[in-house]
Amino acid sequence: MKYTYIAGTGSYVPDEIISNFALEKMIDTSDEWIRTRTGIVERHIARKDEATSDLAVKAAQSALEDAGLEANDLDLIITATVTPDMLFPSTGCMVQKKIDARKAAAFDISAACSGFLYALEVGDQLIKSGQYQNILILGADTLSKITDWTDRNTCILFGDGAGAVILRTREKEQGVLCSHLYSDGAMSEMLQVPAGGSLRPASEETVQNRLHYITMKGNEIFKTAIKAMTEAIEQAASSVGIPIDNIDFFIFHQANTRIINAVAQRLSIPENKIPLTIQKYGNTSTASMPITLDELNKNGKVHQGDIVCFAAFGGGLTWASSLVRW
Ligand code: COA
Repeated sequence: MKYTYIAGTGSYVPDEIISNFALEKMIDTSDEWIRTRTGIVERHIARKDEATSDLAVKAAQSALEDAGLEANDLDLIITATVTPDMLFPSTGCMVQKKIDARKAAAFDISAACSGFLYALEVGDQLIKSGQYQNILILGADTLSKITDWTDRNTCILFGDGAGAVILRTREKEQGVLCSHLYSDGAMSEMLQVPAGGSLRPASEETVQNRLHYITMKGNEIFKTAIKAMTEAIEQAASSVGIPIDNIDFFIFHQANTRIINAVAQRLSIPENKIPLTIQKYGNTSTASMPITLDELNKNGKVHQGDIVCFAAFGGGLTWASSLVRW
């Protein structure tokens, strides 16, 4: 029997910081409103010439170093992103070129903010099948590039970043215990970028109507996310027979501290089991969970044998949970 374990983690956020106070000067908002409604204090924003793959490369290099591997050891790169460098080739192929991972195949996964857990599940299954040994999983996004910076309902929420994990194979029972993925395309209009694809290709009209930016029904997503993540965590715990109380850490998609607190309250999860990075980075989409995991790992807080639960939701709608024994 083969098992998939996380051999290394990495993350990267760009240098430029936009604080809530800076946003006060750009739109009709306040630091107080943003902090109390979302938990966000500041976010990091990519430069104009910095693409998603540039952030992903830095996270990948850090994860490879942590795992003690070279780029040439990789046999697969799976990148979760909704802000690819371009429609095609995939961002995974861009990363492969930039880190010179000559033996690796590469492709992208589109599952919005749940993308990291979708990529983790695909990588886990490919390792368990015996087909691949060393897989780089990336969650990388530059939402700032598709954010309408005049829309106070959305622009206060997002930031840019990348996170990475290296999946490896071993015989000992360790690593990914289970993943559960869910989608409901009937709710696709709750969160989307309406134009730029085959349905509404870029035109003068789509640009004038600001259709290349994220549109969102924030209130509806808020309620759906709480219910979806609560149920996904319950499903994960019951499927492997681990009581929720026995889980050591809960790494949530970092979208809003009020959403995280509401799930924690429903499942009686104490605050000290929930690492947060949202205050520093905002919602970095696919990157938020691997960034949070990397900080937990590099700060020496997670120990061998600890059970880590991941839970995410995002556009699609999609949601997911995973359990990992460290
Ligand atoms: N600054 C100040 N006021 C703002 C504001 C801002 N940036 N954005 C909205 N408001 C106003 C609204 O216009 C509204 O005013 P009104 O009552 O006069 O109409 C008021 O604040 C309350 O708005 P509401 O949308 O009810 O706030 P909320 O408590 O639901 O918080 C979100 C809004 C977006 C923070 C919250 O709904 C949320 O986080 N939703 C989930 C979004 C998400 O996670 N998306 C990504 C999924 S991966």
